[in-house]
Amino acid sequence: MGSSPIEVDAARCLCRIEGTDYPAVGFGTYPLTGEVCSEAVKNAVDAGYRMIDTATSYGNFPSIAKGLKGKDRSRLYLNSKVWHDKLRPEDLHQDLEETLQLLETNYIDAYFMHWPNRKIPIKDTLRAMEEEKKKKRIRHIGLSNVTVNHLRKALEVGVPITWVQVEMHPYYYDPQFLDFCRKNSIVVQAWRPLNLGRIGQDELLHEIGKKHGKTACQVALRWLVQHGCIPIPGSKSKNHMQENIDIANFLLSDEEMKKLNERAAAGTRFRLKLEYGLGFTDEFDLSYEECWPK
Ligand SMILES: NC(=O)c1ccc[n+]([C@@H]2O[C@H](COP(=O)([O-])OP(=O)(O)OC[C@H]3O[C@@H](n4cnc5c(N)ncnc54)[C@H](OP(=O)(O)O)[C@@H]3O)[C@@H](O)[C@H]2O)c1
Repeated sequence: MGSSPIEVDAARCLCRIEGTDYPAVGFGTYPLTGEVCSEAVKNAVDAGYRMIDTATSYGNFPSIAKGLKGKDRSRLYLNSKVWHDKLRPEDLHQDLEETLQLLETNYIDAYFMHWPNRKIPIKDTLRAMEEEKKKKRIRHIGLSNVTVNHLRKALEVGVPITWVQVEMHPYYYDPQFLDFCRKNSIVVQAWRPLNLGRIGQDELLHEIGKKHGKTACQVALRWLVQHGCIPIPGSKSKNHMQENIDIANFLLSDEEMKKLNERAAAGTRFRLKLEYGLGFTDEFDLSYEECWPK
């Protein structure tokens, strides 16, 4: 078991990263682009968000840079992700260089592999990330859309992995995956935490929320934080952004957590397949040897 530079204080809804406190809710920027994205990012930071999530594939770096103009960079925590076809060292260095230029920053706080690629050994990708970390162009390394098998293989490389980013919301979670991450001091960021806003209409969450004077979406985000995870909801609405970050002042009971856990553990995740046109098969159906060959 390694040590992590990150501690999640679920009760206070804070994420302490190397001694600095950040709200335990980040801001997602997919599929926002252009002026809408710049405005949303600016409003999110004004509303108190400090972690902003983006990726090369979102095509919104210049809009984010514009939205962050005049903000104190040292108070922000920027996530970015390199796409699965740019995981070879020379491609990764190039991706990071372009990311830094377009985001108008000298470093990325958390740099993630966006999806695994079975044609590129994970050790090559992680070593390239470690090199960038040594040059202080990356603070922390993350892997997205991985399974326990992927993580086992990745941890063998010996490069510290700080974050994973996976799909997680009240219609889907994987307790064994969370347990594995906890034991290995890896903190989970939850993407699609509101299931694209569908959570807003959920009866069970609404019922629980009524008892706490909170909305269904707030209950969903609180549930994630009480699991020690950092949700990264996206929104272009000022009201929703405010609602989503305002979850520090209530606590779900053990019984409420259990009810939500049982339903989420029985759910299924969204699966990216060839028919979505992304050019890869469903990685989750591949064994890790096939996904990341020796
Ligand atoms: N690593 C990966 O592969 C991966 C994959 C997908 C997403 N992500 C990241 O995760 C972030 C979040 O995921 P997501 O955007 O797919 O899904 P999401 O955050 O679950 O849902 C976003 C949708 O929910 C609505 N919404 C937000 N707050 C709401 C509220 N309080 N009440 C009702 N509706 C609300 C938003 O509409 P309004 O704009 O009207 O508020 C938006 O349409 C992305 O932005 C991206 O940064 C990562």
